[in-house]
Amino acid sequence: MRRRESTRRRVRIAALLGALIVMPLWAGLAATPSRSSTTHRTPTDRTTWDSVFSAAQAGRGETTYKQLCARCHMETLAGGDEAGELTGSAFMSSWNGQTLAELHERIRTSMPTDTPGVYTSQQVTDVVAYMLRFNGFPAGSVELTHTNDALKTIRFETARP
Ligand code: HEC
Repeated sequence: MRRRESTRRRVRIAALLGALIVMPLWAGLAATPSRSSTTHRTPTDRTTWDSVFSAAQAGRGETTYKQLCARCHMETLAGGDEAGELTGSAFMSSWNGQTLAELHERIRTSMPTDTPGVYTSQQVTDVVAYMLRFNGFPAGSVELTHTNDALKTIRFETARP
């Protein structure tokens, strides 16, 4: 008799504990949509004006550019017969508003046009840093990095803010 009593009490306590645990979970789930919509952020929160590469990296990129790209795009970045210019207003406006990930991907997958895809991601990143410096964007203390989707968070922006 006593044992059945205590078993029933244990069941009641278990049910109560269960409710205590489950209720806040439901409340949390219900609250989630409104919370995430108020903390919405755009995926690109930096631009090419935010000192996104280092001077040392741009120097390294210059050497790499001369080895890999200059035979077609020229040392002046002005372009050759078919290779487009990598500086000037036409180049700037064609990349305006796109992310550095898109520029990086374009170079990595389609250059050089005679044997596409042979450049490493790091080589292309360093060359992009050099191209940014060449086009007048400011250097900073931190290198541009191609890992962790970092390039997707930086927008190519022609106009100085
Ligand atoms: C064998 C010659 C050759 C080499 C080497 C080469 N390119 Fe190109 N590149 C071209 C040609 C031709 C085009 C135009 C055709 C096209 O867009 O695919 C072009 C187009 C481009 C574009 C697009 C231009 C635009 O208006 O947006 C970029 C950016 C570029 N190259 C960057 C590079 C970089 C950076 C390197 C070195 C890492 C490089 N290329 C090496 C021939 C070359």
